[in-house]
Amino acid sequence: MRDLLPSNRPLLILAPMQDITDLPFWRVMSRYGGPDVYYTEYFRVHRDSTPEKHILRSIDENPDGKPVVAQMIGQDLEALRRTALQLQKRKIAGIDLNLGCPAPIVCRKEAGGGLLRNLPKIDDILRVVREAVHLRFTVKTRIGFDSPDEFPALLDLFRRHPIDALTVHGRTVREMYKPTVHYDAIARAARLMPCPVFANGNVADAESGRRTVELTGTSGLMIGRGAIRNPWVFTQIREAWAGEVTTRPTLVDLRNYIEHLYEETRNPVVREGGQVGKMKKYLGYLAPGLGGNDNFWNDLKPVLTLRELFATCDRHLAEAMPLHPTA
Ligand SMILES: Cc1cc2nc3c(=O)[nH]c(=O)nc-3n(C[C@H](O)[C@H](O)[C@H](O)COP(=O)(O)O)c2cc1C
Repeated sequence: MRDLLPSNRPLLILAPMQDITDLPFWRVMSRYGGPDVYYTEYFRVHRDSTPEKHILRSIDENPDGKPVVAQMIGQDLEALRRTALQLQKRKIAGIDLNLGCPAPIVCRKEAGGGLLRNLPKIDDILRVVREAVHLRFTVKTRIGFDSPDEFPALLDLFRRHPIDALTVHGRTVREMYKPTVHYDAIARAARLMPCPVFANGNVADAESGRRTVELTGTSGLMIGRGAIRNPWVFTQIREAWAGEVTTRPTLVDLRNYIEHLYEETRNPVVREGGQVGKMKKYLGYLAPGLGGNDNFWNDLKPVLTLRELFATCDRHLAEAMPLHPTA
């Protein structure tokens, strides 16, 4: 990934988020400047798997031609090798291995974050997948399963393999999405790994982006929930590194963004209830805490129709007030 690093600012990556960062969502991000690199939702890999069609579509119809890294989750060596070969027939920049998913059903199968309890298995997987991947091969990891104390041994393992980048989500599997991010662990990875390291966790705007780079020394930022809440985040970070953040969206801009999300994600064969559900999924990341309270989210929760949903947005997002008063 070193070849993709910009010379004067961190590489900006949209995090993979299952059922969120699909092709329509990438299209919306692209409208707002977008990241430098997209990661797909994970392809589930097991003995009988074939790559999911809807995720393949996001690769094939990539909205702006920026590099796409295809992420795999699984622990079956032969299936991972086979899938890596299949995926490399598509237009991708690389393959990523998920070592972070905390979902109990995934961990029980010793995949995703569950693998962090079995270092010899990770060792085998890295060897086999590295051999199969002639493009860039990256790893996205949490910092341990139970405790951050596990991370040094994990790093020693990663250092033994010629991977092209390591993304560190600065939490253990047990910590799920708790507020604290262990920046010291990410910094350790950036210091010790011979490849580029990307910091992940709680970047939501230019200020948190700058703080994360200062605390960790990484050459890239991977942004997930912050991008759902603030699609301007990539542009704002680019501006911050160029000198000054000038993109300062208002509540009205947020209202328009919600409309764009609907335009891109609506699906004529899905019933209205389903469409409302899909929109609430996004809104669940951006409405709570907006303006310092949960009033917007509390009003959105009971809505059942698109008309009610947008009327609620109109009621709460009508003013040209800054979305981030402190930005
Ligand atoms: C709804 C949701 C789905 C996710 N799906 C994936 C996934 O498919 N692959 C993956 O590596 N991480 C996944 N993650 C984790 C994110 O990529 C990221 O590591 C995490 O949200 C922390 O970053 P953030 O604070 O910028 O959101 C998911 C997170 C969320 C909230």
